[in-house]
Amino acid sequence: HGTHGHGPFIAAIDQGTTSSRCIVFDKDGRIVSVDQKEHEQIFPKPGWVEHNATEIWTNVQQVVDGAVEKAGITAADVKAIGITNQRETTVLWDKNTGEPVHNAIVWQDTRTDALCKELGRNVGQDRFRRETGLPLASYFAGPKIRWLLDNVEGLRERAERGEILFGTMDSWVIWNLTGGVNGGHHVTDVTNASRTMLMNLHDLAWDEKILTSMDIPAAVLPEIKSSAEVYGTAASGVLTGVPVASALGDQQAALFGQTCFQQGEAKSTYGTGTFMLMNTGHEPVNSYNGLLTTVGYRIGDETPVYALEGSIAVTGSLVQWMRDQMGLINSAAEIETLASTVDDNGGAYFVPAFSGLFAPYWRSDARGVIAGLTRYVTKAHIARAVLEATAWQTREITDAMTKDSGVELTALKVDGGMTSNNLLMQTISDFLDAPVVRPMVAETTCLGAAYAAGLAVGFWSSTDELRANWRRAAEWTPRMDAATRDREYKSWLKAVERTMGWIE
Ligand code: G3P
Repeated sequence: HGTHGHGPFIAAIDQGTTSSRCIVFDKDGRIVSVDQKEHEQIFPKPGWVEHNATEIWTNVQQVVDGAVEKAGITAADVKAIGITNQRETTVLWDKNTGEPVHNAIVWQDTRTDALCKELGRNVGQDRFRRETGLPLASYFAGPKIRWLLDNVEGLRERAERGEILFGTMDSWVIWNLTGGVNGGHHVTDVTNASRTMLMNLHDLAWDEKILTSMDIPAAVLPEIKSSAEVYGTAASGVLTGVPVASALGDQQAALFGQTCFQQGEAKSTYGTGTFMLMNTGHEPVNSYNGLLTTVGYRIGDETPVYALEGSIAVTGSLVQWMRDQMGLINSAAEIETLASTVDDNGGAYFVPAFSGLFAPYWRSDARGVIAGLTRYVTKAHIARAVLEATAWQTREITDAMTKDSGVELTALKVDGGMTSNNLLMQTISDFLDAPVVRPMVAETTCLGAAYAAGLAVGFWSSTDELRANWRRAAEWTPRMDAATRDREYKSWLKAVERTMGWIE
């Protein structure tokens, strides 16, 4: 990368599902330095996924140190810190000791599937959809809080006495960064709060009726703030004294970093999962096709911007699974090399419903399948089916997006780690029958957090100024004939059906 210009700079912290990173940006939105550290993925039982929140906070401090050191700058050169994070992942901690009471329960974790079914009994999965924009599913934070209160001994009493704090990773990082037990600020932003299933989308406040229904004491909840304002200042580390000035869930941050500031603009981010968000303007739009209604962002006290979201639980993490659990490849990049040795999937379809199925199905009872196997199939075909799984799931959520929004897709803006896979990008373009475009800075998640923090402190003056930084770096156009596409899509949908109802 190398150092650009003379600053000042903005530092963004991205607390993600597999790693934490810090990126320092200059005024042109260019990367000055990056530091990154992975944390442990803990799988105690089938369907369970946990993180150690203490390890995560240690890593966050290290990557901030690392990025600042690599940039060769000091706190005086940094105007603000922006925060972005894996969403929904839930931690409860003791506010007097700062100790988590249990591992964090990760968004991919399905342990609350029975609880969600129970909460929907007699009313159905859409019991809280009108208020929250979300179907009852194990994905969201609220049921995870409830599970912890029910299953960690003595926790409910401590929570009711006001000794316990809840946070998604934004809150956990901000509380620690702004002082922890010595006066840390217990806050969250509207985008993260919109993933708890406890916030009312219309007034952006915790919904008391839902708290009662889910049996969650309000005392554990953080204060809901906008996505771009000064929440406090860093109280320790190399950036001591620098204002902490933004927080957005990573997918909303990517929407912001892709400068999708106008109604109808959308992006799709390819990380451990894949998430397509479309800006729907100042009103929440209901979905009738399995998408989520969520908050896109809110800058200070401006009117909030809402979004429709298509969430896919497993995309990049399927490639990781192939590498770490199956040992079929040695590096993530090898999936492309291996898949490129064959012309097609050899009849195999891989539906990675490891966390149930997210959009547009919302089936917590689904589990993964590989369908269509014959003795003809090789590991190269499976590699191809792995990539096609991401592409077909993208097709399913774009179809839903088109139906809900009435906006015809002219091109798909993409970002995230998997966009370096050319075969995958070509396959997505083929399956969507639309061009796929990637911007110069593919690290749009950190960029969005930096942009929001920079706006909050006046480092950037307006969203128009940010939009001028967006530049196209690559484009893929469709090459597949319609008959092949339609035939393959039918087979994919047949395989999807076979995942459902696996958990009774
Ligand atoms: O909702 C989960 C999402 O925020 C995780 O994003 O980039 O860590 O896959 P990522």
